[in-house]
Amino acid sequence: MSDLILGIESSCDETAAAVVEAGRNIRSSIVHSQVAEHAPFGGVVPEIAGRSHLEQIVPVIDRALAEAGVALDDLGAIAVTQRPGLIGSLLVGLSTAKALAWSRDLPLVGVDHIEAHLYAATMEVAAIEFPCLGLVVSGGHTALYDLTSITELRLIATTLDDAAGEAFDKVAHMLGLSYPGGPSVARLADEGDPRAIAFPRYRSKGEPGFSFSGLKTAVLYHLRGQDALARTPAPEDIPDRADVAASFQEAAVDALLHTTLEVARSGEYRTVLVSGGVACNRRLREKTALRADELGLRAVFPSPAYCTDNAVMIAGLGYHHLRAGRTLELDADAYPHSALAQ
Ligand code: KG4
Ligand code: ZN
Repeated sequence: MSDLILGIESSCDETAAAVVEAGRNIRSSIVHSQVAEHAPFGGVVPEIAGRSHLEQIVPVIDRALAEAGVALDDLGAIAVTQRPGLIGSLLVGLSTAKALAWSRDLPLVGVDHIEAHLYAATMEVAAIEFPCLGLVVSGGHTALYDLTSITELRLIATTLDDAAGEAFDKVAHMLGLSYPGGPSVARLADEGDPRAIAFPRYRSKGEPGFSFSGLKTAVLYHLRGQDALARTPAPEDIPDRADVAASFQEAAVDALLHTTLEVARSGEYRTVLVSGGVACNRRLREKTALRADELGLRAVFPSPAYCTDNAVMIAGLGYHHLRAGRTLELDADAYPHSALAQ
């Protein structure tokens, strides 16, 4: 059987397709971002996302096949994101994958998007030592997993409120920065002092967890005072904008690291995998590497292009599901939530 897998990803606001050989060798990766379509609304609009996936999915798949120099008949399987995500968006990818699989009599493989984000961190390194801790930090998810292998994951901690990326996006909005907020906050933070403002860092008591709503509110109060009726000042009226960005980023990174490293200390972990859009953040990458090293842990991040949503991670993990015989029937459904207990 061919080891070439076509991966399809459409769970949120990126339409992506990729061809990966034997779970590692990336033959092509095409990502069509809908950022420009959602930017006027300051966030992802599910209706717009679904329609845009419908327009883009076939051209994106065609380009991925052409760039890899393969035809549908050369493939060993079609892998597709089955969960979690926006249901209308997931269904576009799943229906397309089903049609392609049926038309060429190829196996169909369903992939969990969160598991795939963590798999992405393992693709560019020679070998990973297990057990691992896996932190997924994106616009929709902030969760920590225990991995005994690349396909055996257990949820350890999740966010009580906002996802880390959502906090970056909202703080960017308060500071008058462009959407998506993560990269713009990070750029402005480079010019500011991370110790200028002592924003709160969430510390979980008892069960490990994450929380970003208190930090987000602290930034809001810093900008406009405690008066609930006051308006957030215009960007040009915020004298310490870069310091706010840097201090917020530092607090968000510290909060992520605190819980992750506390769990790391309580176990026999060898590696910490960090993935998802927020894993592009340079400060998070630097500080995690430093702190993990002190604990004798190896911190592994994917390249930025594979931190954000892509189909390479879907085709890559799909290969392992195929080899384990985990394939889908053509009546398989898509699901808004991850299969891993939330
Ligand atoms: O994984 P992703 O592409 O999509 C989701 O599955 O959500 O993550 C997007 C999120 C956005 O919230 C974006 O602001 C954030 O990742 N992000 C960053 C950076 N680059 C992207 N957050 C902080 N620093 C960055 N450099
Ligand atoms: Zn994602």
